[in-house]
Amino acid sequence: MAEPRETAEVTMDKIVSLCRRRGFVFPSSEIYGGLGSTFDYGHYGVLTKNNIRERWFRAMVLERDDIVAIDSAIILHPRVWEASGHVEGFTDPLVDCRTCKLRFRADQLDQARCGRKPSKHPGETPDCDLTEARQFNLMFETTVGPVQDAGARAFLRPETAQGIFINFKNVLQLARRKPPFGIAQVGKSFRNEITPGNFLFRVREFEQMEMEFFVPPEDAEEWYRYWIDARLTWYVDHGLRRSRLRVREHDAEERSHYSQGTSDIEYLYPIGWSELEGVANRGDYDLTRHTEFSTTKLEYVGPDGERYTPYVVEPAVSIERILVALLVDAYDEEIVAERERTVLRLHPLIAPVKAAILPLIGKNEDMAGKARALYEELRRRHVVEHDDSAAIGRRYRRQDEIGTPFAFTIDEQTLQDDTITVRDRDSLAQERIPIGGAGAWLDDVLERPWKTPKGD
Ligand code: GAP
Repeated sequence: MAEPRETAEVTMDKIVSLCRRRGFVFPSSEIYGGLGSTFDYGHYGVLTKNNIRERWFRAMVLERDDIVAIDSAIILHPRVWEASGHVEGFTDPLVDCRTCKLRFRADQLDQARCGRKPSKHPGETPDCDLTEARQFNLMFETTVGPVQDAGARAFLRPETAQGIFINFKNVLQLARRKPPFGIAQVGKSFRNEITPGNFLFRVREFEQMEMEFFVPPEDAEEWYRYWIDARLTWYVDHGLRRSRLRVREHDAEERSHYSQGTSDIEYLYPIGWSELEGVANRGDYDLTRHTEFSTTKLEYVGPDGERYTPYVVEPAVSIERILVALLVDAYDEEIVAERERTVLRLHPLIAPVKAAILPLIGKNEDMAGKARALYEELRRRHVVEHDDSAAIGRRYRRQDEIGTPFAFTIDEQTLQDDTITVRDRDSLAQERIPIGGAGAWLDDVLERPWKTPKGD
């Protein structure tokens, strides 16, 4: 049986290496030398991201009656970003070093490394020659249409939220909603971050999942607390240890220009406690600004003539930050039968593959036939994998590393009594079940609540 290695420290390097080795995530444009901090997702990365997105959408939209979905354009009218405050205020202070030619965030020099002496911070060596700080807008600019004049200037959205606000009236009228109600959106956002890094934690292109919840102003504080709790519970339900999560409320100076209150749900990443998701009370800032800039009134008018501009409570997160947190929390190393194994103890609903179907001896035609038939049956309902290559131990190890929670093994006994072995990824316990009941067994086990064996 397995002996957990208490000292196994989970570093970002281990996660990066596993993701690459097993085809979750690759550095992008690698054959051209790479483009720093951009990534491409391989098969298992795509499947895992799909699961995260599906679970979020299920919890935020499908399992509720008060939230609807939207999918707005990435390139919006440039005035949207004036109204939102992004043209003026979505900036970070930047300094250049004339010596090493690197750029740094002026407010985070203590976390950056000098380009020539990485043991020092920028500005700490006599060679460092830093410019004065200047404000750098994080929005990516582009031009719309064939003419590159000022009128054609547009931006790639830095958040999905504004696509929701500008559709407020459409949803209010056409989806016949009244506050409290929400609009949810999932899609790519783009930020020209000065210092991207830490694998997928801070990237320039990421997939945001945001929900804007419109409420009567007097109820905003209550809903703000409600969404902090709801989102925290979602993480624990999807396998993160509670002890690795905390809520940190921003003080007034730290808050964004639109915010009346913001809390970060933080995770203890290998880089320390850092923002996983933000929950903000945006007040009536966005609807008021878009009313002003577009001259379209964005307000709620009740059946008795009462009218007000709703406040907005927003939980906002990226799939990338969730993916890194889930991988870090799931990663484990242990010794089994005197050999080391690496295992991803992912929640079964998040794991890219739900079950592996393995004939013990791939070359045995009877075993191979039964394994193939089981695979064909199960793949109609779940993402499953059939693998008849290499020794069984190596196949188990491969599945452990991609986090497959269950393995069905077809062996000699199957040929006699039509039972198969089920191997549990975490406990390594094995049980025998009838081959004909494997589909129902898998359906059933995937429905059950799951808790990480790594503790609280
Ligand atoms: N609409 C509000 C908003 O965009 P934010 O705190 O700037 O607020 C929300 O971003 C979430 O988006 C963050 O909590 C984080 O999960 C994710 N996020 C932001 N910048 C990111 C980046 N450069 N790379 C990956 N995820 C990012």
